[in-house]
Amino acid sequence: MPLSVAAMVIGSQLCRPCHLEIYDSYARTPMAQSSGRVAPLAAASFSAAGQRYRVAGNTLFFDGGQSTIDYFIGSNAAGRSFLRAYDGYLFELPVTWYAQKRAWDASPGYEKESQVRLTRAVEPSCLQCHASRVRPVLGTQNRYGTPPFLENGVACERCHGPGSEHVKDPAVARMVNPARLGPERRDGVCSQCHLSGEARIERTGRRFAEYQAGDRLADYATYFVRQLGRRDLKVTSHVEKLAASACKLASGDKLWCGTCHDPHTNEDKSQAACLSCHAGAHRPEERCVTCHMPKARTSDGNHGVMTDHSIPRTPRAPAPPSGGLTAFGSTADDRAIGLAYAELQDARALPYLRRAVPQDWPVRLRLAVQEPDPARATQLYESVLRDNPHEPAALVNLGALYAQQGRLTEAAALWERALVTNAALEEAVLNLARVRAPAETRLILERYRQVNPAFRPAPAKPR
Ligand code: HEC
Ligand code: HEC
Ligand code: HEC
Ligand code: HEC
Ligand code: HEC
Ligand code: HEC
Ligand code: HEC
Repeated sequence: MPLSVAAMVIGSQLCRPCHLEIYDSYARTPMAQSSGRVAPLAAASFSAAGQRYRVAGNTLFFDGGQSTIDYFIGSNAAGRSFLRAYDGYLFELPVTWYAQKRAWDASPGYEKESQVRLTRAVEPSCLQCHASRVRPVLGTQNRYGTPPFLENGVACERCHGPGSEHVKDPAVARMVNPARLGPERRDGVCSQCHLSGEARIERTGRRFAEYQAGDRLADYATYFVRQLGRRDLKVTSHVEKLAASACKLASGDKLWCGTCHDPHTNEDKSQAACLSCHAGAHRPEERCVTCHMPKARTSDGNHGVMTDHSIPRTPRAPAPPSGGLTAFGSTADDRAIGLAYAELQDARALPYLRRAVPQDWPVRLRLAVQEPDPARATQLYESVLRDNPHEPAALVNLGALYAQQGRLTEAAALWERALVTNAALEEAVLNLARVRAPAETRLILERYRQVNPAFRPAPAKPR
């Protein structure tokens, strides 16, 4: 019996010779263009969140400093965010281009910042949705190879699985075709990026980044939504919304994203789809979605406008989310529920975390953060670091506990390690500067000014 070879991801370029038409039309879609290296930008001056900015070429100027603009995220269908690279570490820039408004403004989540913030870490999950063949450096929070991803946007293989064997002999090694999968695996192909829910918790010992088209998404992660459902539109809420529609509830597996969307052309097939199930509907000459899938502002996208995928009978007024969390599309154990509440900083987390099986390091980390007793917190953080020596919060916080206990050398060693995982962990920088000799302190702060050009050291306080 021949050994089966594990196929490798090879890149869309190699699909082109045989699937020319699909390749060329797909290349023009927003998904294919969702990330890349920034070409020089048109000059602009503007204010955002109370700060003045100027964009010129590949530089963002602000009062008293400047930053490079290296990569973009977002095709510009709605807008475009920008990333800064420093020594392989990636940070999100505080300003975003909003295509619908045709204006620069604060990036989502930065509206209330009181200073120029250049240190928000770009974690792999962000790039996994917007780029392909992402190259995170293991043991870091936000460091990547150069370039950080080998293919811009969503590659063919994200929906079709790895292609190395197929290109050698297409008749023998078949690609995954979402339309031929069972409903759960089919829906997972789109949900890997279009579902975020309130929280996504990785299963014990599983890495979400290893999910491939054709797998069961529920084997990698548990998703949580609010019990009463969200009425407001979140940026990646299409999956939950559709699941709540009368159409989906009544017609089940027949209806999926592919019923209305052609991913290769980005064609909107919705009119034919409505009529295929609602033959004899009223107003057959009119575009159904104008009234039944109205567009509304998003709650977390800042200026974004989204289509309501809950296909309401009459447009509904948005209501604030409420209720407890419930698993979406699968069941959840105490561990997942506890971690999900903890991610939302919800006090309901604790009893679940205490009951969680196994008490693996993500659980112990959450318990440590909430542990009032320093001795027990120390033990918990130490045990987290035995299993995950690169956990940034554990490194920073255990360092602080050691420092309180007078163990300054050990504390400093932990903060040094924290700065390897993410060079812009300001708390680690400032703590380290405090415990080192003055000459070294100056060096540490100077180095940090390069990592974070918006950093202004506070005037030295008398000791
Ligand atoms: C050497 C030519 C060649 C290359 C390169 C190639 N394909 Fe194919 N592909 C084919 C042929 C031929 C078929 C039809 C096979 C059949 O039906 O037996 C096919 C079928 C497919 C199918 C349909 C599978 C199904 O069962 O419905 C998908 C999806 C696919 N290819 C994706 C890709 C992707 C993605 C790449 C790049 C990683 C790629 N192909 C590269 C020749 C190629
Ligand atoms: C690897 C992640 C990923 C996968 C898999 C994925 N998408 Fe997307 N999709 C995105 C991202 C990111 C965007 C936003 C692109 C942009 O505008 O920058 C997007 C945008 C879209 C859009 C909006 C395009 C527009 O006109 O603005 C549609 C429709 C869509 N996806 C449908 C699908 C469907 C259907 C599937 C499953 C067959 C799917 N996507 C799978 C990441 C993904
Ligand atoms: C779970 C997958 C996921 C993650 C994580 C994610 N996004 Fe997105 N993002 C999407 C999808 C899907 C869209 C398309 C909008 C939608 O859902 O309709 C989108 C839309 C956008 C857009 C608007 C693009 C356009 O023009 O249509 C920007 C900008 C953006 N995301 C930036 C980011 C940044 C920056 C991060 C990380 C810091 C991030 N996103 C994390 C999936 C994701
Ligand atoms: C966002 C997800 C997504 C991406 C990205 C994607 N496809 Fe597909 N592809 C699908 C889906 C869904 C189908 C099934 C369409 C159907 O039959 O309804 C499909 C079907 C196919 C098929 C077989 C049926 C046909 O239409 O001939 C081929 C071949 C194919 N894709 C090649 C590619 C290639 C090559 C790329 C990259 C250039 C690509 N796909 C990118 C989702 C995707
Ligand atoms: C796969 C089949 C299918 C598709 C596609 C579909 N629907 Fe439905 N829809 C149903 C079923 C089944 C029901 C429930 C029974 C009924 O009311 O007819 C329903 C219910 C509805 C309702 C009543 C909702 C309520 O809350 O009472 C509206 C309005 C509706 N659909 C509009 C649309 C529109 C507009 C489209 C296209 C964008 C669409 N549907 C696409 C199957 C479908
Ligand atoms: C019943 C038809 C229908 C189904 C099913 C459907 N969509 Fe859509 N979708 C639409 C329509 C209509 C638009 C708006 C298109 C436009 O205005 O050009 C849209 C727009 C989008 C957009 C662009 C952003 C926005 O909200 O306007 C994304 C992303 C998207 N859909 C993702 C999905 C995903 C993921 C699924 C599966 C969970 C899905 N859609 C299922 C009809 C549908
Ligand atoms: C101008 C706005 C408008 C357009 C366009 C429109 N609808 Fe409606 N539709 C409505 C309203 C309003 C209702 C609710 C009527 C009520 O509750 O008495 C409705 C009700 C429905 C229902 C539920 C009917 C029932 O008896 O339960 C369906 C299904 C439906 N529409 C499908 C469609 C389809 C399919 C299209 C496109 C061919 C479409 N609608 C176009 C406004 C519209």
